[in-house]
Amino acid sequence: MDQDAHKQPYPTDIEQEVKRRTEEYKILHSITQILQSSEGLENMLKKVLTTLVGFQELEVEHKAGIFLVDPEEKVLRLFCTVGEFGEEFMEKEKVIPYGACLCGRAAVSGEFLTSNSCFSDDRHEHRFDNMTNHGHYIVPLKSDDQVIAVLFLYTDENPPWYIRNHEILVSIGGLIAGSVVAHKREQEIYEKNIQLRELNELKNKFLGIASHDLRNPLYLIKTFSEVLEDGTLGKVTQKQKESLKKIYNASLFMQGLLENLLDISQIESGKIDIKKEPQDFNEIAKQQIELIQLLADKKNIQVHFDPGSLPPVPYDKRAISQVLGNFIGNAVKFSPPETKVLVTTEKLDDSIRLSVHDEGPGLSKEDQQLLFQEFQTLTARPTGGEKSTGLGLAICKKLIHLHDGKVGVSSELGKGSTFYFSIPLNQA
Ligand SMILES: Nc1ncnc2c1ncn2[C@@H]1O[C@H](COP(=O)(O)OP(=O)(O)OP(=O)(O)O)[C@@H](O)[C@H]1O
Ligand SMILES: [Mg+2]
Repeated sequence: MDQDAHKQPYPTDIEQEVKRRTEEYKILHSITQILQSSEGLENMLKKVLTTLVGFQELEVEHKAGIFLVDPEEKVLRLFCTVGEFGEEFMEKEKVIPYGACLCGRAAVSGEFLTSNSCFSDDRHEHRFDNMTNHGHYIVPLKSDDQVIAVLFLYTDENPPWYIRNHEILVSIGGLIAGSVVAHKREQEIYEKNIQLRELNELKNKFLGIASHDLRNPLYLIKTFSEVLEDGTLGKVTQKQKESLKKIYNASLFMQGLLENLLDISQIESGKIDIKKEPQDFNEIAKQQIELIQLLADKKNIQVHFDPGSLPPVPYDKRAISQVLGNFIGNAVKFSPPETKVLVTTEKLDDSIRLSVHDEGPGLSKEDQQLLFQEFQTLTARPTGGEKSTGLGLAICKKLIHLHDGKVGVSSELGKGSTFYFSIPLNQA
């Protein structure tokens, strides 16, 4: 006998039709609302099942469940149920193979099934003690044509199989499937995020230990290559001197790199000590400019300062000096000799902004995308043999973010660059 005999149309009395449509609308609305909630998947699906079995027009028992499909193992895993199920059922139905009983069949065929009676339907292979006669709606839950779960509802034996019930169950099945998929994706992203955070913490720990432990031996290499080279420890040949100079320069570069790496690991692991105090901003900018001017003199670059009138701003002196050092230092480092650098400060609505404008090579759109990320040494190279680790701007961005501020650049290739950052006047 064809068990999928959901052939009867619903009674066509107009009043009943209106009532039925209203109820269908209500059930779809409640289920959509439940599926949009931010609850965990299991609770959410249980609520959906409870709502569904309470939908009177379906004429189902208060007994239903959902299997999730595991395509790798080719099994269905019982995910949640509502209503009374015996221990034997819960144990035996925990995991069922593809193709087994009604739900396993629906998982394979992707087809909606109805079954008049568990005793007379050969497809209902699973038997349990004290099983009373019942029928079933079996709804494969599909997303992109893939069965991702199977919903089963208990009915009386030989219930009326209304076409409308079939239609509404398929619609609801689609909604549930979409939500299950979205939840699974969210869960995957959540787990991946945790993994990434753990890996990042591990990386920071490693960076911290490695850069810390390398500092002392590096200091020795730097110092000894210096004293060897200047002849304090005995005569050295010209060739030896040249090699020692190279060792010294390399150790200087490594020292800068280690300091930057240590900074990154400390900022990322939250170990950096930021003490924000409201204070004058132009003064610290002036101090940094004076320091950098000493280096700029070697290239005949003049660093001008045009300070705006600023109220006191809360910031950490060490951190902001470091940012200024890198922003203004970069302008000098990447600009050709005989050019000018202009540093300006100004008050915006609720922040202050410092801008560094240079007459250097400028940055292409592609390079601008990569700025402020770690290890980006871009097209522009230092013009006076300075060191370049490509970490400075990444550190600056993190330090400015710790001040709730923003960093940015406006530049055109061949037309110089303006790097700027802003710090809010009021911070948490
Ligand atoms: N004012 C500038 N003009 C042109 N290019 C710049 C400018 N500032 C930075 N860049 C480009 O961006 C890259 C990254 O800058 P960043 O300050 O992060 O590293 P760096 O100066 O190379 O090394 P360090 O880690 O010592 O600061 C630079 O290598 C350079 O190619
Ligand atoms: Mg730099």
